[in-house]
Amino acid sequence: MPQFTETELTAAVIRSFEDTPDPRAKFLLQELVKSLHEYVRKTDLTFEEWEYAIDFLTRTGQKCTPIRQEFILLSDVMGVSMLVDAVNHRDRGGATETTVLGPFYVGEHKVMPHGADISATLPGERMFVQSRVTDLKHKPLAGVPVDVWHADDEGYYDSQKTSYATQGPTSRARFVTDADGRFFFRTILPCSYPIPTDGPVGEMIVQTRRHAMRPAHVHFLVDAPGYQPLITHVFMAGDKYLDSDVVFGVKDELVASIQKRSDAVMPDGKPTAEPWHLMTYEFRMKPGEGSAPKPMMANATEAA
Ligand code: BEZ
Ligand code: FE
Repeated sequence: MPQFTETELTAAVIRSFEDTPDPRAKFLLQELVKSLHEYVRKTDLTFEEWEYAIDFLTRTGQKCTPIRQEFILLSDVMGVSMLVDAVNHRDRGGATETTVLGPFYVGEHKVMPHGADISATLPGERMFVQSRVTDLKHKPLAGVPVDVWHADDEGYYDSQKTSYATQGPTSRARFVTDADGRFFFRTILPCSYPIPTDGPVGEMIVQTRRHAMRPAHVHFLVDAPGYQPLITHVFMAGDKYLDSDVVFGVKDELVASIQKRSDAVMPDGKPTAEPWHLMTYEFRMKPGEGSAPKPMMANATEAA
C-alpha cells in the first residue's frame, strides 16, 4: 500500500489522471491539482479553513437560480472572469476591447425598431444612444443583431425587480444594424450600482472591506456572422468608481464622454421637451468565429 509524503501525494494525484482520453481535459485537471496542492502547502491550510471554504462554495451553489449565477459573480470579483477574457483576447488588432458579460444577461432581448425608448416606463434623465458596427477598416456591417442592457437610475436591472415577472423587460432590447451599420435608441442614464450583496460573494466583499460598486455602464453584445462575438460595456466618463470597479472590468477605450444636450430635437429629428444626454460609440469587429453566450433564461428553458 503506498504511503504518500506531501509531495509524492501531488505526483500520485497528477498520475491518476494519466489515462484521461481528452488531452485538453487531462492537461486542465493535472494543472488544477498542481495549483490547488501548491496553495494548500504554501498556506498550511487548517481543517477549519478548509471547512469554511467548502461551506462557502456550497452556499455559493445554493444561491444560484435560473436567473441568478453566484458562481459567475465569484469569478468576477476574484478577477478570474477578466483574466479569462484577457488570455482569450490578447491581440485585438484594432477591434473594440472586450469585458465581462456579467450575471444580468438573462434573456428576452426583443428586437426593437431604431429610435425606440427601451426605458419608456422608467423615471430618469433621458439619453439618446447612437452607434455603428464596422469591421476593422471601418466598413459598416449591416443586419447585425446587437443586444443592449443596463441598470436603471437606482442601479437595478429589470430582472432583479419583482415586477419583472409581470411587466417584462425594461432597459433591455435587441437592435439590428441598418445598411450603414447604424443603430440608435432612447433610454435613461444608468448609474453606478453595487453587485448583489445578499449572498456569500457579497458577504466576502463586506468582510474584506472592499466596496461592491461598478461604475455606470451600458452592456452591448454584438454578434456578426464571420466575426468574433463582441461582449463589452460602454462606461460613463467621470464616474467615481471607474478606477475601482469591483469586477475589474474597466478599460480606457471603453469609457465614453456623455454629452449633456438641451437641443429641442434628438439626432433622429424627433422633438424632446427636456434636457437629454448623448452617447456616441462605434464598435469595430474582429474577423473570426465563436458563439455568443446564451442568456441564462434560454439555458434554463433548454435544461427543463
Ligand atoms: C454587470 O455589469 O452587470 C455585472 C458584472 C459582473 C458582476 C456583477 C454585475
Ligand atoms: Fe452591468
